[in-house]
Amino acid sequence: MLVLGIETSCDETAASIVENGTSVLSNIIATSKEAFEHLGGVIPESAARRQVECILPVITQALTDAHITPKHIDAIAVTKGPGLLGSLLVGTTTARILASVWKKPLIGVHHTLGHLSSTFLQTTDMRQQTTDCFPLLALSVSGGHTELWYRESHIKGILLGQTRDDAAGEAFDKGASLLSLTYPGGPSIQKAAEHGNDHAYEFPLPLKAKPTLDFSFSGLKTALKYLLQSEEPLALRDVAASYQHAICRHLVDRIQKALKQYPDIREIHIVGGVSANAHLRTLLTQTIPDVPARFPLSLAYCTDNAAMIAAAGFFMTEKVA
Ligand code: KG4
Ligand code: ZN
Repeated sequence: MLVLGIETSCDETAASIVENGTSVLSNIIATSKEAFEHLGGVIPESAARRQVECILPVITQALTDAHITPKHIDAIAVTKGPGLLGSLLVGTTTARILASVWKKPLIGVHHTLGHLSSTFLQTTDMRQQTTDCFPLLALSVSGGHTELWYRESHIKGILLGQTRDDAAGEAFDKGASLLSLTYPGGPSIQKAAEHGNDHAYEFPLPLKAKPTLDFSFSGLKTALKYLLQSEEPLALRDVAASYQHAICRHLVDRIQKALKQYPDIREIHIVGGVSANAHLRTLLTQTIPDVPARFPLSLAYCTDNAAMIAAAGFFMTEKVA
């Protein structure tokens, strides 16, 4: 089954062709991130204007790269939310028109379900694609949300915890802004932290003794603010490394806690923009060596992309069929 995925929830315009939820035949993304680099965030109106210009060329390129024409597509999957309203409208309106003109079924996909499906992209091992990995613990960490899921299947799960304030990606973005680094903050902090000392400065471990699987990042941001106001001379790489470590340690701490409550979990999946973070990957596998951890196979599937939306669309219809 060939699904055309369309994703326009933030500043990106993306289209992808995915076969049977896993095999990526094409994955095109046009992003205006550079335009917002020095502004510390996205301006919704200018993002949507650019998406109107990009959407049809991006879809055309996705078809061309996959060596197919519209008649080969079995369904169209589009991000229905959450996201920036104007941006979402560009994607959903385009998808609706194409579905009607090409006479294809249209599947609305929740953005988070897209991220949760991203660990299955390009998996060639049948065991990894099928039910063998369930139940699994999925941590979805992006600029807009931080959620911990107990997943029973591709489309069924229980939300175990979520952030009470900032999202993990937001903690990186706001931290980068305090450190005068460019947006998006995650890659900037990761780069600044290279060769830095993770333990140079102590940050609190949020919600440590609380009986919850929720997250909280605002205290870390405040601690960083106070640290930067202190009189002592600071090394940027050590501050960046310690702050990055504090965010990752909180994420791994929640996973450890969830594993104690749900001993039947077979795999840990980390998805969303923050799953691209190298320190998080190392810390997780070092701290929890006995439960297999899976990240999206390419960094392009960590941050927002249309392949994950096509994959989620496939898994949703597979269930209905
Ligand atoms: O999933 P995503 O592309 O978009 C949303 O749905 O929000 O995630 C974007 C977030 C940004 O906050 C960005 O700073 C963060 O992911 N991010 C990273 C890294 N790459 C992107 N955070 C930490 N380390 C990275 N390497
Ligand atoms: Zn996202």
